[in-house]
Amino acid sequence: MTFQSIVEDIMSSHHSLLRRELPRINELIDLLSAEYPDNDRLSEARQLYAKVRSKVEAHLKDEELILFPTGVALECGDAVVPTEMDLLERLAEMEKEHDGCGNALTGIQKTIAETTPSSELRDKLLAHLERVQDDFVAHVEKENTQVHPMFIALLKKSTALSN
Ligand SMILES: [Fe+2]
Ligand SMILES: [Fe+2]
Repeated sequence: MTFQSIVEDIMSSHHSLLRRELPRINELIDLLSAEYPDNDRLSEARQLYAKVRSKVEAHLKDEELILFPTGVALECGDAVVPTEMDLLERLAEMEKEHDGCGNALTGIQKTIAETTPSSELRDKLLAHLERVQDDFVAHVEKENTQVHPMFIALLKKSTALSN
């Protein structure tokens, strides 16, 4: 498997699922929160979700605009688009974000399950959250175990060649 084929698969499966599901979950959380305006834990979960969503969206953008194209260019021997970003530092930070966002989603799902009674809306929200969490596990596994190590190797190779 080439770096290019792995990241194309990740974008078309996992990133597209997040782009579809994150706004959908947002709408469902807003609707549920409107039904329980005095539920403080639910409103905390809603605020936490907003933070996680923007973190994930910024993360996807860095992958799609910088990390993935840089890795593909290195693999093909094409010119790398210059970036101000410290790529190895960002990579390490991304692995922390994988853990942080995964844990936050689990916490959000747990809070909603514990603090609101079963209803069509709440169960639909939980089902969407579960779909995102399950997919996130597979997504992160591919990035942590394949994409990141391959990227580091490509970067090292290109630095060795240019020295
Ligand atoms: Fe990703
Ligand atoms: Fe990632």
